[in-house]
Amino acid sequence: MKWLTDFLISSIGRKLIMGLTGLFLVFFLAVHLFGNTNLLYNDGGEAFTKYVQFMKVNPIIKISAYMLYIFIVLHAIQGTLLWINNRKSKGKTYAVSTNANAGFAAKNMFYLGLLIFVFLVFHMGDFWLKMKTGSLDEYTLYSGVVATFKIPAYLVIYELGIIALFFHLNHGFHSAFQTLGLNHSKYTPIIKGFGWIYSIIISLGYFIIPLYVYFTVPIPA
Ligand code: HEM
Repeated sequence: MKWLTDFLISSIGRKLIMGLTGLFLVFFLAVHLFGNTNLLYNDGGEAFTKYVQFMKVNPIIKISAYMLYIFIVLHAIQGTLLWINNRKSKGKTYAVSTNANAGFAAKNMFYLGLLIFVFLVFHMGDFWLKMKTGSLDEYTLYSGVVATFKIPAYLVIYELGIIALFFHLNHGFHSAFQTLGLNHSKYTPIIKGFGWIYSIIISLGYFIIPLYVYFTVPIPA
């Protein structure tokens, strides 16, 4: 086991964890958004409730959920360690660099990640924890989500979290490939372009849902 812990804390092991967990989270965000678009039907929660019921019984989703929790924690820990190392070595060792020519997102990946983490603590407390503790279930989750987005302070917290997510994804997407060793004059611009499109579509999707609920969905009786 020592070889594994040695590998995980080695420079290459850390980069590998950061890139792979990042790409898994990129995939999760697309699936999660796709599920949440069921909130856009304005059908009293019928489509969303069916989706939540499906998620609750699907064994693949259950296993992936535990992987997801582990990956979020690993991504956050490794990101913090890399940020500390970069500060010590003045940002010369890792793709998420702090050099003067890097853009806003590249320079602030750690702080953007921290904002998303704070958002996630709020978000998991809102829905996930209430599902786990039984104060919401698959039939009442829709009302819980609508009630949350009807509170202006929550709406603002969500939208700020999603703005941070946009910048984090915008740099993180291509940075993950670079970190995993894919640095090529032909492919890097394509990956960067794809990263732009992905981060815009995903963030816009997440951004629209709370606003849509706030302005158009009536609070369920
Ligand atoms: C419009 C915005 C969003 C809505 C309406 C939404 C809705 C939900 C709901 C209803 C749940 C609980 C489902 C359950 O536990 O079965 C959930 C869980 C979760 N959400 Fe979101 N979400 C949004 C944005 C985000 C964003 C931006 C992230 C990540 C940065 C995120 C990460 C998570 C995670 C990690 C879970 C726990 C997943 C699980 O246990 O399977 N969500 N979300």
